[in-house]
Amino acid sequence: MKTEIWAGKLESKKTDAAVLFLFEGEKFGQAAGRIDAALGGMISRFMKRGDFKPRVGAVHLIYPEKRMAAERLVLVGLGNKSEFTLNRLRLAVGKAAPFARATGARNIALDADVPGFPAEDIAQALTEGCMLGLYRFLKYKTNDERDIRRDLRTLTLVADKPAQVKLLRRGATTGGVIADSTIMARDMVSHPGGDMTPTIVAALARDIAKRFRLKVQVLERKQMEKLGMGALLGVAAGSAQPPKFIILEYRGNGKEPFIALVGKTLTFDTGGISLKPPDNMDKMKDDMAGGAAVLGAIRTAAALKLPLNIVGLLPATENMPGGRAVKPGDVLRTLSGMTIEVINTDAEGRLILADALAYACRYQPAVIVDIATLTGACRVALGQEASGMLGTNEEFKQRVREAGEKTGERVWELPLWEGFYDLIKSDIADMKNAGGRDGSVITAAALLSKFVQKYPWVHLDIAATAWTEKDRPYTPKGATGIGMRLLTQFLRDYAATGNGPAGK
Ligand code: BES
Ligand code: MN
Ligand code: ZN
Repeated sequence: MKTEIWAGKLESKKTDAAVLFLFEGEKFGQAAGRIDAALGGMISRFMKRGDFKPRVGAVHLIYPEKRMAAERLVLVGLGNKSEFTLNRLRLAVGKAAPFARATGARNIALDADVPGFPAEDIAQALTEGCMLGLYRFLKYKTNDERDIRRDLRTLTLVADKPAQVKLLRRGATTGGVIADSTIMARDMVSHPGGDMTPTIVAALARDIAKRFRLKVQVLERKQMEKLGMGALLGVAAGSAQPPKFIILEYRGNGKEPFIALVGKTLTFDTGGISLKPPDNMDKMKDDMAGGAAVLGAIRTAAALKLPLNIVGLLPATENMPGGRAVKPGDVLRTLSGMTIEVINTDAEGRLILADALAYACRYQPAVIVDIATLTGACRVALGQEASGMLGTNEEFKQRVREAGEKTGERVWELPLWEGFYDLIKSDIADMKNAGGRDGSVITAAALLSKFVQKYPWVHLDIAATAWTEKDRPYTPKGATGIGMRLLTQFLRDYAATGNGPAGK
């Protein structure tokens, strides 16, 4: 889909579907007033009757029959003006775009004259909401079912005021980059484990590195052995697929310290010898969603040329049972030198992250953020409305929290108190990898915290938010791409404010 900016009046734009936004309980804005008049007061009449209430994401289709240049007019609710946010705009347009597509429209034109935020931000949100709302994963559908004819061809943002064209273009470009990276992350997660092996993830990372001029390094099993990444190697031991440790460096800021992003890239999690039950095991292809988010975020940072230095680390492996697999009771020696007793081979995420976090410390980073589909318990605690957040640094947690509010990828903090550490004490090693059911989101994070040394660190548990079983406004059923926009917003805000106080 191509995105363009067009200067003129929405009612004069020749398009398959013109999209007009309306607030609840407000007088019509300029475009709405003119269009209502062109339609002989039709909109105000049926709204007075109560046929259409402009709640957030509510849509209504009108055929203007030559009284506008557009074939179709889609009204979209934005809810209450006083509660309006950019995320609400994404929600609304994320509903409207697939709705327009379902009518058969191939081109849509959006009224970009939405009040409340700078034009650039409006354009970014409109582009993101559209592209993400229209997402479908058709890779494995054969032609009959693909219905490829109905993909949108052009998205036009209509600038009422010519002065806004430049700002809208800039916002649409940013939004396009962010949506593309989110879609890449969703695609990676949507692919079955058999087609998204560590080797394939490494090849993808190399492609991105080439396109965006990143430095890339992929450590093979031999090199991991030499370094002493015993935890990652232990998890990989049962798999026929070779593990990869992927390192991507983006340098946009001279000699400043790196920001380290670490993403769990478990390309399929069977549980290993502590095998998972068969119900929903297919979903364990999403266990590399953290890595996908990191790859997406570093891609975005490079495309937007953010003035930051960022290292992305993706420990990539499968977790499989087998004759060579690690066994409950085995002790693994991590890259840091500390040892971990494997109580449950299904608690493998923290093992591969232990080595990746220790590796991140070699960069003496300004901050480490790790993101991982780490614990099923996170869904019990927070449902799918928030990702879990734990960490050692108040300022960075606040920054991540704010990025979550802005993007709609919200996080909620859980405590990392002393007492939780007792639960992962081992009789024979420095710690054990599973501490029982109590507070298990937290005990997982407690283990991770032992590998970040003194560096400010934030951990994000996306086990519940990486996949959705139901359609959400701009997140259709399936892989959500969670974390990509959250990390990107965190990075953009960090680039804007440096080490100063959080927020804008
Ligand atoms: N990848 C899973 C966590 C997960 C569960 C993600 C459900 C998405 C949906 C992780 O490796 C895991 O198996 N965690 C165990 C830990 C336990 C054995 C201590 C869990 O949550 O049950
Ligand atoms: Mn597991
Ligand atoms: Zn896992």
